Amino acid sequence: MSKADLIVGIQWGDEGKGKIVDKLAQEYDMVCRSQGGHNAGHTIWVDGVRYALHLVPSGILNPKAINVIGNGVVLNPESIIKEMVQFDDLEGRIFISDKAHLNLPYHSLIDQAREKLKGENAIGTTGKGIGPAYADKINRVGHRAEELKNPVQLCKNVMAYFKENKVIFDALDVAVPNEADLLEELKSYSEQLSKFITNTTNMVWDALDADKKVLLEGAQGTLLDIDHGTYPFVTSSSTVSAGACIGLGLSPKDIGIVTGIVKAYTTRVGNGPFPTEDFTDAGETMADVGKEVGTTTGRGRRCGWFDAVAVKHASRLNGCDQLSLMKLDVLDGFETIKICVAYEVNGETITYMPSDLTNVIPIYEDIKGWDSVVGCREFDQLPQTAKDYVIRIEELTNTKVGIISTSPEREDTIIL
Ligand code: GDP
Ligand code: IMO
Ligand code: MG
Repeated sequence: MSKADLIVGIQWGDEGKGKIVDKLAQEYDMVCRSQGGHNAGHTIWVDGVRYALHLVPSGILNPKAINVIGNGVVLNPESIIKEMVQFDDLEGRIFISDKAHLNLPYHSLIDQAREKLKGENAIGTTGKGIGPAYADKINRVGHRAEELKNPVQLCKNVMAYFKENKVIFDALDVAVPNEADLLEELKSYSEQLSKFITNTTNMVWDALDADKKVLLEGAQGTLLDIDHGTYPFVTSSSTVSAGACIGLGLSPKDIGIVTGIVKAYTTRVGNGPFPTEDFTDAGETMADVGKEVGTTTGRGRRCGWFDAVAVKHASRLNGCDQLSLMKLDVLDGFETIKICVAYEVNGETITYMPSDLTNVIPIYEDIKGWDSVVGCREFDQLPQTAKDYVIRIEELTNTKVGIISTSPEREDTIIL
């Protein structure tokens, strides 16, 4: 019986999970998403061709791999249908859990209306209805993918939900569709998706029992986790490795190697504290060179230095066996690179991550930069100062670096 290896984001998302899942997936039989929704945006480059994925797992570019969307995902039918048309013959290659909750158009409308009401206190969500869809699930008023198989009944259930929640829709000034339009929409989703909806828990168990290689693909990142992230500036799912068990129906004993994906610097999209954010030319250079624009919303990402305190914390939280250090090439040409090695909080120096990052001042160590690592595929090709940077990250985060990425392309990757 095999174990499922796991890929998890260690910072605030967009670390480069898609690239690594795609790279590793060439050797896996099954790739599974366990949480999040179409708020995720995973960009993959293969031989100069760009793929942008939101709900479809990043194993889709291995024609032999089976892709699973687990029960912990909130599924927007329109979004996945749009994504699926990019690929031929998906029948038998992609499966959606019958227990995954539906993220329907009214969830986005509620999300956007709430954000607008919050004004300057907005979370800066992707506006994709993720919070409202998960809230309905926890509130036990959500609708699950299995219901798509009977659109007439689902339509009745959704209309009943609108009636029960009329006060909320009215207060937020959100218009609900009429029954006839809703039914037509649900029938169309049903026709296109029903054949992919199944009991995926058993499928994953069967794959592990048959000694197949299974890879779990995290979305978002640890610092956006609903419990462990910078609440309330977080997403609404459990983004940490433990969440993958719940989101697929696995036990902790089913988990194999855990790889944490980290950028060689830090980015964040949306609002909330970010201690190492850099407002100088350095931050701007990272944004320009790293093309730090969100795949899902097109928003610019805030940029700053590598935060070793946060990464050490996240590595422990996820049980990382190794880190995959992404976008090392983006730091090419910097004379000096900073690493945050401790925080100052209320005049005291600490080396652990406090629950609230709001008033944290980063304490930096300077590291000598290098000319270029772009496209390197062997550790020995790296300049000595780049090697020193990697080694210092290992020391500070108490985790070995097992993979280094030096360009967006699949093959520009160093496996140690
Ligand atoms: P994800 O959400 O974690 O999958 O990450 P995204 O795909 O949203 O963002 C990562 C971005 O960095 C994408 O545009 C990737 O193509 C790009 N990328 C990944 N690895 C590297 C790398 O090593 N170097 C550079 N320059 N870009 C990279
Ligand atoms: P991937 O998988 C980066 C952020 C949003 C916002 C907060 C809440 O590509 O790494 P939500 O719409 O989830 O309610 O927004 O979470 N966010 C992400 N940031 N990468 C992501 O996914 C994200 N998914 C959500 O910007 O700050
Ligand atoms: Mg992304």
